[in-house]
Amino acid sequence: MQNLNLIDGRWCPALHGGQLAVTDPATDEVLTHVPNGGADDARAAIAAAAAALPAWRDRTAAERARPLRRLAELMLERADALATLMTREQGKPLAEARGEIAYAASFIEWAAEEAKRIYGETVPASHPDKRILVLRQPVGVTACITPWNFPAAMITRKLGPALAAGCTMVVKPAAQTPLSALALGELAIEAGIPAGVVNIVTGDARAIGGAIFDAPVVRKVSFTGSTEVGQQLMVQAAQHVTRLSLELGGHAPFLVFDDADLDAAVRGAMATKFRNSGQTCICANRFFVQAGVHDAFVARLSAAVADLRLGHGLDDDVTVGPLIDDAAMAKVADHVDDARRKGARLVIGGAAATPRPGLTARFFQPTILDGFTDQMKVCHEETFGPVAPVRRFTTEDEAIALANASPFGLAAYFYTRDASRLMRVAERLEYGIVGANDGAPSTAQAPFGGVKASGFGREGGRYVMHEYLDIKYVSWGLG
Ligand code: SIN
Repeated sequence: MQNLNLIDGRWCPALHGGQLAVTDPATDEVLTHVPNGGADDARAAIAAAAAALPAWRDRTAAERARPLRRLAELMLERADALATLMTREQGKPLAEARGEIAYAASFIEWAAEEAKRIYGETVPASHPDKRILVLRQPVGVTACITPWNFPAAMITRKLGPALAAGCTMVVKPAAQTPLSALALGELAIEAGIPAGVVNIVTGDARAIGGAIFDAPVVRKVSFTGSTEVGQQLMVQAAQHVTRLSLELGGHAPFLVFDDADLDAAVRGAMATKFRNSGQTCICANRFFVQAGVHDAFVARLSAAVADLRLGHGLDDDVTVGPLIDDAAMAKVADHVDDARRKGARLVIGGAAATPRPGLTARFFQPTILDGFTDQMKVCHEETFGPVAPVRRFTTEDEAIALANASPFGLAAYFYTRDASRLMRVAERLEYGIVGANDGAPSTAQAPFGGVKASGFGREGGRYVMHEYLDIKYVSWGLG
């Protein structure tokens, strides 16, 4: 397994020494150590990205697309090995890790195709002797800072479009899950992406991030992570007016109307809530269920939850893995205790569990709490764990008001069979992503991103290309 930084096509230890252990969250087994890089490592990577930029930018779109397509193919060819590595460092069940590798590869493939569709424009001028041209050009050197919950896909949905647009990139993966990133780096080299176009620096997030924002040559940073860190990055970005894309926290509502297909609603709820043990930014965090179907929905959801199997992600039939660390466990337990203390009814789960001997204490039973209120933490804070708090509502207006009563605006879900209501509710939800009768909206060809405190910028679809392109207006006087 690759465990060194990738700078200018070479695998290197941290410039000033130092290593970080990478552990399996399910067992605490140390898998390997990676460089504890800092500001100087980041500066070396930025210099490499800057040096590689002119030749990469000047390639034709087809020449940039070719190695990107090859990278996507290699990811799919090596999916089993990549998925096993991901499960070991991140904990998610192997089937989910395989799904993530395919999802991650799809962003590279999509971007390779979009490289050929970076069109400019001509605009009618007001003078007969002038022409107006609009060019779209790569922003230049870029960087991304990515989270541990999707160790591959959160990188590729930034790296793919950046490279397709003609930018080079420095990748700073999460300290908990650097191995998937480094494995992608190996494949990038094998795919023929030139030295310096992709650089990967593991280590101290604050020092590496600081060096990235200190460097005026870095023209764009894309970040996925918490709103709190996103706010700090906005301050740092002010220094050189660095462009940002921020995919930040969420607190997704999930509405079930009386006229919903309840089986579909339960399937959707299971997909959005328990994927990755509830550790996704688009996980449903607040379930609002109309009075007429409330009891039936809770009963069916509870039956589905009872079928989940907690365990090591590499063990057969496991559907829910460990949480990433002890702090995550403490937060989930605190949210459940807080809700129960304040009157929520425990339907199922509610406590830590040890699925088998030899596993850590980072497993939390998939949990349903009924009757959550505004006073409870689950109503306002992202739990980032396998907890589904449910609450009853009466009218559509009430449901919309409850759903929108959040500073976050990433994803929202609702279930109804009424087509008029479907359009009405979709329009009124203040969220960047709306799953209307769909609990799994993420896909490479659609724009993923939030509004309000969930950030700005879009990843996926043709929209993501704008994030890595500058617009240049050329006013051409014919003389
Ligand atoms: C996230 O949790 O931020 C990503 C989820 C997804 O891409 O579906």
